[in-house]
Amino acid sequence: MMKTWGANCIASPSHETKSGRDILAANPDTPGSLGIAISEAVEEAVTDGSGKTRYSLGSVLNHVMLHQTIIGLEAKKQLEIANEKKVDVVIGCAGGGSNFAGIAFPFVYDKINGAEIEIIPVEPTSCPTLTRAPFHYDHGDTAGMTPLLAMHTLGHNFIPPPIHAGGLRYHGIAPLISHSVKHGLMNPQAINQLECYEAAIKFATTEGIIVAPETGHAVAQVIREAKKAKEEGSEKVILFNLSGHGLMDLAGYDKYLNGELSDQSMSEAELEKSTQVLKNYPYPK
Ligand SMILES: Cc1ncc(COP(=O)(O)O)c(C=O)c1O
Repeated sequence: MMKTWGANCIASPSHETKSGRDILAANPDTPGSLGIAISEAVEEAVTDGSGKTRYSLGSVLNHVMLHQTIIGLEAKKQLEIANEKKVDVVIGCAGGGSNFAGIAFPFVYDKINGAEIEIIPVEPTSCPTLTRAPFHYDHGDTAGMTPLLAMHTLGHNFIPPPIHAGGLRYHGIAPLISHSVKHGLMNPQAINQLECYEAAIKFATTEGIIVAPETGHAVAQVIREAKKAKEEGSEKVILFNLSGHGLMDLAGYDKYLNGELSDQSMSEAELEKSTQVLKNYPYPK
C-alpha cells in the first residue's frame, strides 16, 4: 500500500542504521519491536545530513496523549447525543498509550472530581507493562537514544514475542498513564491473544467491523465487563475506543482461524532478566 502512494518502506530492524545492524548482528532472528523501530527512526533523523528529515512522535510522550484527548472529548459529545448521562466503564488497548489516553483522560478528569468510573487500559499478557513491570526511569527506545522517561517499563531491551498486535509490543508506556495507574485512577488488565481474536470475531459477526488485533484487546475486555454486569444484574454503560480496523492484519486472522496461534505469557525469570537494565537508572521520586 505504501508503495502505491510512492513511499519506499523498509522493515525494521534494517541494515540501513547502526542500531538495526547492531541488533541484527546480536540476534539475526529478532522479530523486531516498536523500541527498535524508534531507535532506527531517531538515528535516521539525527544523522541525515540533508537537514530535511524529521522524527515525529506517534505515542508515549505526554504531548501526544494531550493531542489524542480529542477522542474522549468527542466521545462525550456522542454520549450526549445518545442521551447517556453517565459512563460506568472506559476501555482502550494500550501499547505506547495514545489511543487509550485519548479516550480515557477526559474521564480521568471526571473521576478526580468524584465520578465513579472504572478506567481500564488493556495490554497483551506477553507484554505486561502496566500489570507487572516496575515504575522506573528508562529509555523509550531499545538503543537508548531517547531521554529517560518515568514510566512502567519491562526494560528497554525487552523484545516481546511476535504476537500479531504489533502496536502493543512496546516495553514502556506513557508517563502520564503510568502516573495515573500509580495513583489508582486506572485498573490495567492483561489478556492473551486467543481471547482477543475470539472477541474480535464475535464483534465482526455482530457489528460487521473487523477490528485491528490491538483493538481486539479492548473488545475482549468489553465482553468481560458486559458479562460481569449481566452476572451482577446491573446495567452498565461501557465505552471503548475502536482504535483501528484489521484489514492490514488479515494474516493474523488467517492464522487464528486455522488454529495456528497460541497464548504467550512472560515468566517471572524473563521479567527479572529484562528489568535488570533498570539498575543503571535512577528510581523516580
Ligand atoms: C490499531 C492500533 N491500535 C492501538 C495501537 C497502540 O498504540 P497506542 O497505545 O499508542 O494507542 C496501535 C499501534 O500501532 C494500532 O495500530
